[in-house]
Amino acid sequence: MTASSDLDALEARLSADIEAAQDLAALDALRVGALGKKGEVSLKMRELGKMSPEERQVMGPALNGLKDRLNTLLEARKATLEDAAMNAALASESVDVTRPVKREAQGSLHPVAQVMEELAVIFADMGFAVAEGPDVEDDFHNFTALNFPEDHPARDTHDTFFMKADDGETPKVLRTHTSPVQIRTMLNSKPPIRIIAPGRVYRCDWDQTHTPMFHQVEGLVIDKETHMGHLKGCLMDFVAAFFETDKVEARFRPHHFPFTEPSAEMDVRYERVGDAVKVGSGDQWMEILGCGMVHPNVIKSCGLDPDEYQGFAFGMGVDRLAMLKYGMPDLRPFFEPDTRWLSHYGFSPLLQANLATGLS
Ligand code: PHE
Repeated sequence: MTASSDLDALEARLSADIEAAQDLAALDALRVGALGKKGEVSLKMRELGKMSPEERQVMGPALNGLKDRLNTLLEARKATLEDAAMNAALASESVDVTRPVKREAQGSLHPVAQVMEELAVIFADMGFAVAEGPDVEDDFHNFTALNFPEDHPARDTHDTFFMKADDGETPKVLRTHTSPVQIRTMLNSKPPIRIIAPGRVYRCDWDQTHTPMFHQVEGLVIDKETHMGHLKGCLMDFVAAFFETDKVEARFRPHHFPFTEPSAEMDVRYERVGDAVKVGSGDQWMEILGCGMVHPNVIKSCGLDPDEYQGFAFGMGVDRLAMLKYGMPDLRPFFEPDTRWLSHYGFSPLLQANLATGLS
């Protein structure tokens, strides 16, 4: 016959074993040994049938209580061991995503993306924010607000792609330049304004240096005091930073754009070194951008008072800058999916352009 003191001893032993179980397999073996079909506690339960009713009244509840307490202990120990197993797995399988990659990445940055990045870095350093506008523009933003007269031939010089229009509507266009972002910015924000606007532009043209889609970066500064001297200084600093030289010689040739007055094209002195250009020396001049003081009519179109506000704008071809700086003679492969070209001319995506350690 089992006395309650035996049960106490059994409970103490089993409880201690459960607490000491080091893994789930050991714990399950303990469970089977105590509560399984032939477990120590189960065998004692079987003895109840042979007991007198008085004994059974004492031992029945005692055994059931023991069974419940052991089950509770088993559950608790199981949860603890499972947690520990999970933590160990997490610790051993963790990946430090901040560590540098071991192998050189396979992809590379397209030269256009690289140059856009360089431009953003240079102009950010001068306090310019980046603005954007849609590729499909309306006539107002692309032409009218930029002081292109109605039916004026200036609109034709852009070789515009027109979208199909609904009856009676003015057709939308694929923007022919990034200048419409000037208008959007002046309409949507208050001066002082200092932005660059990189993006895709479209003109119906195709040869070694022209593709129907190409990239420009626009610049716009509007406040009360900015004058032509600032325009010149800003662009000289830009050329020096972009071509990574401190010797920049530039000339501003009078030009015509409907949206600037006066207007100029900026040329820099250069010489060819292989396919690339070296800026600052040589005896040749190369046109790199268009610029000018924002025309009063443009300022007026955007609801600002031209007697109070003024500023300058400039626009340049990103693809062309990339060809010059990195010595690519033909523009067309820029937009052909040829991975050999990209692995030759592409840039590491892991080395970000910055002014401290170098742009490229
Ligand atoms: N939008 C002009 C072009 O595409 C460039 C430009 C921009 C000129 C801003 C002057 C001022 O040719």
